[in-house]
Amino acid sequence: MASRIIENIAKLVQVEDTPRRWVAGRDMARMQCVDDAYVLVEDGLIRDFGPMADAPRAGVDERVDARGGMVFPSFCDSHTHLVYAGSRELEYTDKIRGLSYEEIAKRGGGILNSSRRLHEASEDELYEGAMGRIAEIIGLGTGAVEIKSGYGLNTEDELKMLRVIRRIRESSPIEVRANFLGAHAVPLEYKGRQTEYVDLIVKEMIPRVAGEGLADFVDVFCDQGFFTVEDTERILTQGAKYGLRPKIHANELAPSGGIQVGVKHKALSVDHLEFTGEAEMASLLGSETMPTILPGAAFFLGMRLAPARQMMDYGLPLAMASDYNPGSSPSGDMKFILSLACIQFRMLPEEAINATTINSAYAMGLSQTHGSIAHGKVANLYITKPIPSYEFMPYAYTTKLVDRVMLRGQML
Ligand code: NIG
Ligand code: FE
Repeated sequence: MASRIIENIAKLVQVEDTPRRWVAGRDMARMQCVDDAYVLVEDGLIRDFGPMADAPRAGVDERVDARGGMVFPSFCDSHTHLVYAGSRELEYTDKIRGLSYEEIAKRGGGILNSSRRLHEASEDELYEGAMGRIAEIIGLGTGAVEIKSGYGLNTEDELKMLRVIRRIRESSPIEVRANFLGAHAVPLEYKGRQTEYVDLIVKEMIPRVAGEGLADFVDVFCDQGFFTVEDTERILTQGAKYGLRPKIHANELAPSGGIQVGVKHKALSVDHLEFTGEAEMASLLGSETMPTILPGAAFFLGMRLAPARQMMDYGLPLAMASDYNPGSSPSGDMKFILSLACIQFRMLPEEAINATTINSAYAMGLSQTHGSIAHGKVANLYITKPIPSYEFMPYAYTTKLVDRVMLRGQML
């Protein structure tokens, strides 16, 4: 049994005595901490924690000195598209010149551009590129990540992407969940024949993906100009038959009905949510679906903001994720998401931390094992440089404060 103690922690942040599935409404502003603390880890799990005065003095294999830094549970990034080929900075300049995301998509840019490049890339090239991004986000404090397919848009390329995600899962200490997003865009060869592309997803892709055990979730970009509520229902119904729980893109570009269809099909999360009103909030309240906001995409595309404060006032939980992808959010920096949550969405630091840890863990089916410092949870955490308070994390919005990282009880 390998044991390790982290001691001299100025503040141990986001501890739970009784682990919760998520936090909602007013509770989003509450967060428990222990000052001058230790954490004891055994066999990759959190065994114990508390004030330094109670720390075990002997019988521990390795002692790690936090040197007055704080310890946070790793970020859980429940929405990314980090397997991709190439980059899209030329579209980014088109946007600066005034074209909209939808206009770029209509010209065969956007997701279809990434799809062409993914088609040309080998599985090894995709894996190497994605592993670079994985190393980057691990260094930035992320300990669990959901990765979507969706730049394949034909059966073989979707499977290629999902196999890359499986390789990442097998070779990296970060916790990975895979999401099949065949319905990310209608490929050019199906232009005007969207229903036939949905047929392909339902009849061929889902059975193959599930047959190879390549995905945990199924996703649809249910929005204006992309997939309809009817398309979404067909895909989610078939996904459910194959054991794939939905997590969907909804209401980014319009009030698309995506939130309601997600709730109806017991989606684990509905994501984006820029166009959320009373009807959407009512459908979410009391459901099993985690509303998830992607502040990086709204920031990068200069879009309207999801009504985070109203949603919390309504009693809803909120999760936040990076949306790391080449088109709408080329960054997986979850500390920056904390800052965007506070600066742009006017969330309190506690609300932002809950949104990016315990609630985003729920949004990827991991809140029993990740997302807080609690007995028996996986020892995924990071040690900061010495900082005066946890509020300093979102406040110092470009300073690299994550100093050392522990994943599955191992210091990296
Ligand atoms: O979550 N909204 C749809 N999909 C991605 C964008 C992917 C891309 O532009 O490549 C998103 O923002
Ligand atoms: Fe996305």
